[in-house]
Amino acid sequence: MITIKTAEEIAIMRRASQIVAEVLDALVKAVRPGVNTEELDRLAESLTLEKGARPAFKGYKPGNVVYPKSLCVSINNEIVHGIPSASRKLKVGDIVGLDYGVIYQGFFGDAARTVGVGEIPERIKRLLRVTREALYAGIAQARPGNRVSDISRAVQAVAEGAGYSVVTDFAGHGIGRRLHEDPQVPNYFRPGMPNPRLQTGMALAIEPMVNEGGPDLEILDDGWTAVTADGKLSAHFEHSVAITSSGPVILSELLSELDNV
Ligand code: MF3
Ligand code: CO
Repeated sequence: MITIKTAEEIAIMRRASQIVAEVLDALVKAVRPGVNTEELDRLAESLTLEKGARPAFKGYKPGNVVYPKSLCVSINNEIVHGIPSASRKLKVGDIVGLDYGVIYQGFFGDAARTVGVGEIPERIKRLLRVTREALYAGIAQARPGNRVSDISRAVQAVAEGAGYSVVTDFAGHGIGRRLHEDPQVPNYFRPGMPNPRLQTGMALAIEPMVNEGGPDLEILDDGWTAVTADGKLSAHFEHSVAITSSGPVILSELLSELDNV
C-alpha cells in the first residue's frame, strides 16, 4: 500500500530531511585523510540528537540482522551499507558514500552523497557526477501522472549512457512514517515489475547506486556491507522527494543552499 501524505505531513518530512541534509553537509566537511568512519558515525549521531531528531538506521532490522550504527559509510568498491568502524581510516583518493537517515516527529528522512577524499582523478569524478545526474534525472520524473518506471528508466538511461551499470539488487523506496514504504523504486526497468502511477502526496527516496564495472554484488560476512563482485568502484546518491501537483520537491536539499542560487 502506498501512503498519501497531507501537506502538513510533507512539511514535517521536509524538516526531517533538512536535518539529514545538514548532517550530511557536516559529514562532508569532516571527510579528510586520517579520519576513521566511527568518528563520522559519532558526529552524525550527536548532531542529530542536538537537532531534536533520532538516527533512523541504528537498530533497524529488516530481516534477522540488526544494523548496529547510525550512519552507512561505503568506501570505493563498497556499494551501500558499509558499517562505520574505528579501524577504518579514510585515505587520499578514496571515494566515500555517506548514507544517512533520521526520524523526526514520527517521519523519516533519508539521503546519501558520495565524495572524494582529497584529490581524486577525473575518471572517478565522472562516476560521481554521472551518478548524481542519474539521481536528478530520476527526480525530474517524479510528478503526478507518471509511473515509477519513468523514474527508473531515466536513472538507468543516464548511468548506462555514460558506460556504467546500475545495481539491481537494491532499490529506492517510499518513505514516510516508515523508512521503507511501498513502492519500490528500482534503478532499472524490466517489463512486468510493479509499476504504480505517481500521485500528489507520495514521497519517495530515489537512490541510484552506479558501478564503474558490472552490476553484480556480494555481501560481506558482517551481514551488511554490499561490495561490487568485480572490485570496481561504486557511487551512491539519494534524495527524499515529495510529489506535488507542481512536480517534485526535493525534501533533502538544503533550503539555505537554494537561497544562495
Ligand atoms: N538509504 C538506505 C536505504 O534506504 C539506508 C538503509 S541502512 C539500514 O535502504 F541500516 F537502515 F538498513
Ligand atoms: Co534509502
